[in-house]
Amino acid sequence: MNINFHKINELERKFGTSFYLLDVNKLRLNYQKINNAFKNRYTNFIIGYSYKTNYLPYLCKEMSRLGAYAEVVSRLEYDLALKIGVDPRKIIFNGPLKTSDDIETALEKDSIVNIDSLYEIDYITTFCINNHEKQVKVGIRVNFDISNDERGILQEGFEISRFGICVSNGNFQYAVNELKKLDNVKIVGLHGHFSTSERKVKTYGTITKKLCELAKQYIGDSVEYIDIGGGIYGEVPSSFNLQTPNFDDYAEEVCYIMNSEFSHKDKRPYLILEPGISMVANVFSFFAKVIEAKKIQDQYFVLIDGSVHNIKPTMHKKNLPMKVMRERSETQKYVSYNIVGYTCMEKDYLAYGVEGELPNKNDYVIFDNVGAYTIVFNPPFIKERPSIIALDDKEIFLVRKKESLTEFFNENLYVFNNEFEGKFV
Ligand SMILES: Cc1ncc(COP(=O)(O)O)c(C=O)c1O
Repeated sequence: MNINFHKINELERKFGTSFYLLDVNKLRLNYQKINNAFKNRYTNFIIGYSYKTNYLPYLCKEMSRLGAYAEVVSRLEYDLALKIGVDPRKIIFNGPLKTSDDIETALEKDSIVNIDSLYEIDYITTFCINNHEKQVKVGIRVNFDISNDERGILQEGFEISRFGICVSNGNFQYAVNELKKLDNVKIVGLHGHFSTSERKVKTYGTITKKLCELAKQYIGDSVEYIDIGGGIYGEVPSSFNLQTPNFDDYAEEVCYIMNSEFSHKDKRPYLILEPGISMVANVFSFFAKVIEAKKIQDQYFVLIDGSVHNIKPTMHKKNLPMKVMRERSETQKYVSYNIVGYTCMEKDYLAYGVEGELPNKNDYVIFDNVGAYTIVFNPPFIKERPSIIALDDKEIFLVRKKESLTEFFNENLYVFNNEFEGKFV
C-alpha cells in the first residue's frame, strides 16, 4: 500500500500524531525466508521466535500461526504464549531466572525447558520426586568458549558469557550426573545461544559442532534437539554499509554440520534456531509528526512527537533509515539538521546531522527498522505509549491502542489518595 500524505492525515485522525506500523506481509516473508533456508537443508528444523525482541501479542500470534515455537525467558512471556493459544509443547522456556513454580508449570505442560544454572536442578528434582509416574524431559544451556582465539567476540567485548552451565570447569558434567540420578528424567537437548558483535557464519559452525559433540558424548541416543539460539543477521539497512551473511549462508554452515554429525541416525534430532532481530527488526516503522523546526545558534533542530526511546532505546548514535513525508511540495532550505524528541533529556536525539531539505511543521518523519527491542524496551516516560497499527495486504487495523491516563497510571497498582484506610498493610 502506498502511504501518501493524505493517508497519513487519515491515520492521524484515528490513531494520533505518532504511531508504529507493523508490516505483516514482511513478517511472513522473513519467516518463510529463514524457514526455507534451513528446512531445505535439514528437514527437522524448528524456529523458536524470541519473544523478548518484540512480544506484541498480535505478532506473536502470527508467528505461531506460521508454525514458529515461542522462545520465552520469563513467566510473563510464558503466560502470554499460553494466553494467545500457543500449544505448551511448542514453548521453549529459557532464561537465567526461573522459579520452582515456573519449572513445575512448564514440566507439567510438557514445554521444552532449558536450564541455565545449577539451582534449577533442585526444582527439577522436587518436581520429579512429586511426580514419579511422569517421564520428564529437560535441556541444558551450555557455556563454552567460542572465541577460536579471537578476543572479545561477544557483544560489548565481553571475554566470557555469563549464561549457561560451564563445560570447562566440570559444572556441565556435574549437572548431567545429577539429572541422571533421577529415574524419571531424560536430558534430551542442548542449547547454546551466544550474542556476538559480528554474528559471523563461522561462529555458528563452532556452536553447532560443539553442541553436537557434547550431545553425543553426554546424552547419546536421548538427544532430541540441538538448539543453537539466535543472533543471526537479517536484512540490514543499506545505509549501515555492512556486508552481512544471508540466511542461506548460515543455513549452509549449520545444516552441513548437523547432517554429518547425525548421519548415522534414522531419526535426526531437531535443529532449533531462535531468531529475534532477524525476524522483526525490518517489519516495524515509526511515524511521528513534526511540531517545529527551530534554529539555535547555527544548528537546526526538528522537534517531533516521538522520542529516542520509541526507535532506539539503547540510544546508539547510528541514524536509522528514515524519510520525510511533506505536507507541502515547495522546495525547502537544504541544510544539516538534528531530529529531537519530546522528553526533557538533552540526549533525546532520534537522528543526528541529517542532510536534506529542512522538514516543516506538520510534515511526518518515518523511521524504518524499529521492530527489535523498541516496544518491549520503551519505558512509559513522560508520555503515554503510542498506538501500533498493522498493515496486512491492503487493510490497516489497530493492534495496540494508544495508552490513556488510566492505563498509564493503572488504578489497580497505584495509590492516588494519601488518606486511604489500608495504608498500614
Ligand atoms: C536465548 C536467546 N535466544 C534468542 C535470542 C535472540 O537473539 P537475536 O535477537 O539477536 O536473534 C536471544 C537474545 O539475546 C537470547 O538470549
